[in-house]
Amino acid sequence: MPSFSIVVAADLANGIGLNGGLPWRLRKDMAFFAKITSKVISNDSRVNACIMGRRTWESIPAKFRPLSNRFNVIVSKNPCYLDDKAEKSNPFVALAGSLEAALSLIKSHQESFSPRLERVFLIGGSQLYNEGVRSTRCQNIILTRIQTTVECDTFFPDIQSSEYTLLPSAKSHEFLETFLNEQVEGGVITEGDYKYEYTVYTRV
Ligand SMILES: NC(=O)c1ccc[n+]([C@@H]2O[C@H](COP(=O)([O-])OP(=O)(O)OC[C@H]3O[C@@H](n4cnc5c(N)ncnc54)[C@H](OP(=O)(O)O)[C@@H]3O)[C@@H](O)[C@H]2O)c1
Repeated sequence: MPSFSIVVAADLANGIGLNGGLPWRLRKDMAFFAKITSKVISNDSRVNACIMGRRTWESIPAKFRPLSNRFNVIVSKNPCYLDDKAEKSNPFVALAGSLEAALSLIKSHQESFSPRLERVFLIGGSQLYNEGVRSTRCQNIILTRIQTTVECDTFFPDIQSSEYTLLPSAKSHEFLETFLNEQVEGGVITEGDYKYEYTVYTRV
């Protein structure tokens, strides 16, 4: 089964969502999310896979979904979820009944899907993160830490220090530049009223 990285933006209380959407609007962080989930490192024309819960899929504005240049895997218990949707026939969109099923589907597509699949990301929401952090397939958590607390109704689970190590700031930055093979803005980023930093947890 393929390993994966979690990508998430959370406030100091691990808040990630409000009323089915994001509690903040951070243009640069959205660009970072797009970069980290889209960029492929091999020189052939592969794409990455993004696994997401059905509610996270629905939280993406229609004009931005499926996420471009990525293989979108929607997790839902409803096997008919896509039946009446335009995306049903889109080869970059797939439906899976569980996280395990999503990983199996990606594994079976890794060598046969055209273009081939490279990295795998779990991009939310709370229900799938809860399962994802506990999976030994989860290698890294790439977490944009927003340095305040805002109103949220959806939360990222506590990250156990017995399972993941938070890399110090300079090491997180080095990790991301290596992961992306390009320069990444380091330190605390200010955008409007928000300050945030890209952090990395690696599996112990
Ligand atoms: N800050 C961030 O980085 C970030 C990232 C992503 C999302 N979010 C926010 O998080 C919120 C959405 O999260 P959420 O927890 O409410 O929903 P979610 O995890 O995105 O989706 C939940 C749905 O996914 C399906 N699902 C989840 N786990 C499953 C499993 N193990 N097996 C089968 N189906 C499963 C179910 O769909 P069915 O009901 O169809 O069976 C479930 O109702 C939104 O506010 C969104 O904006 C924030």
